[in-house]
Amino acid sequence: MLNGKKILLVISGGIAAYKSLELIRLIRKNGGDVKCILTQGGAQFVTPLSVASLSENPVYTDLWSLKDETEMGHIRLSRDCDLIIIAPTSANMMAKMAHGMAGDLASTTLLASNKPIMVFPAMNPQMWENAATQDNIKTLAARGIKIISPATGDMACGEVGKGRLPEATEMLESLITHFQNNKPLAGLRAIVTSGPTFEPIDPVRFVGNRSSGKQGHAIARALSDMGASVTLVSGPTSLKDPDDIKTIRVETTAQMLEFCQKSLPADIAVCAAAVADWAPEQYASSKIKKGNDDKLSLSFTQNPDILKTLSTPSSSRPALVVGFAAETEHLLDNAKAKLTKKGCDWVVANLVSADNPAFNVDENQVYFVTSKTVEEWPKSSKDDIARQLVERIAKHFANKAFKIAAE
Ligand code: C5P
Repeated sequence: MLNGKKILLVISGGIAAYKSLELIRLIRKNGGDVKCILTQGGAQFVTPLSVASLSENPVYTDLWSLKDETEMGHIRLSRDCDLIIIAPTSANMMAKMAHGMAGDLASTTLLASNKPIMVFPAMNPQMWENAATQDNIKTLAARGIKIISPATGDMACGEVGKGRLPEATEMLESLITHFQNNKPLAGLRAIVTSGPTFEPIDPVRFVGNRSSGKQGHAIARALSDMGASVTLVSGPTSLKDPDDIKTIRVETTAQMLEFCQKSLPADIAVCAAAVADWAPEQYASSKIKKGNDDKLSLSFTQNPDILKTLSTPSSSRPALVVGFAAETEHLLDNAKAKLTKKGCDWVVANLVSADNPAFNVDENQVYFVTSKTVEEWPKSSKDDIARQLVERIAKHFANKAFKIAAE
């Protein structure tokens, strides 16, 4: 139900921290991935070892840990997730958040975050009712932070009142509801091409490229997360088919085109595949043997262009067609030329260089090119680029809907 959603769980100090261990288990059982930050206070109640074992991820505790700062870093930690939850959230943690303090890993990560944040306060009823806490809650809520009110009941301190952390199953429900409500692309259909294509030479050899499919698969997941009904047409990759996304696996460019066309009509097409432009003219039905000649010549014919075909004006053209451009030189000129030549609406362009290998790596630095604008997007994970692109797509369709409604 959480479909590979990445959750960053901050565990701050409180006797209720034991419930977060159960929450980690439930998130994983429901298909989510969870990374945890344990505050100093949190570590008084649960151990880093139990959190790491249950999450099967490293646990982050220290802002000044050189290893985490080089490999992960608080900025990356705050960006590389779909949702941040703080459970339990102590009164102290809320006060720090309300005042923008950043003296430890948890508060710094929260201040650096551009992701939705959900807090589960848990504390003694008097602390909860204290005007300082209530003011902090109002401040946080006004900033768009989702506050899940504590439950009422017996407290560990012996008092009775409001301040209990909800049970893990209830916290899980809040997470699922959050993801269900955030679906601006519901009702729209999307086709995504991903990975390389392989063109066979003989039964054991092919012409292909190094594309991993990471970017295309991430886009398919991001579209699906925002509610689109996605068909992913993927060339050969080692990635597993994304949960709940119709995935068609193909080998050749001709098959990729065939299944894209069969998946029409669609509202959105994103061609992220690194398609082989050429296919051997002849297929040898048995393995080509080494002969006396020390040379082998193959001739190639040009493959159909899937992006261009999908972009061609017709009654079945998707309303928005997005292409990719990987270039080794004159990136922006080539990307702009591609918009016109292929007839697509947007191009996501990246320079393939020693600094930005683009292929088969997790990070990329891209430019977002339309007929009117060129934007440089900062280097980030392919998951983040996918989310940013899909947010753009959602905005595009929201504007369109607004225009139609206003007409
Ligand atoms: O022409 P070039 O290969 O540089 O264009 C890249 C863009 O075109 C990518 O979006 C790629 O998926 C798409 N493409 C395609 N079919 C081809 C070649 C490229 O869809 N035969």
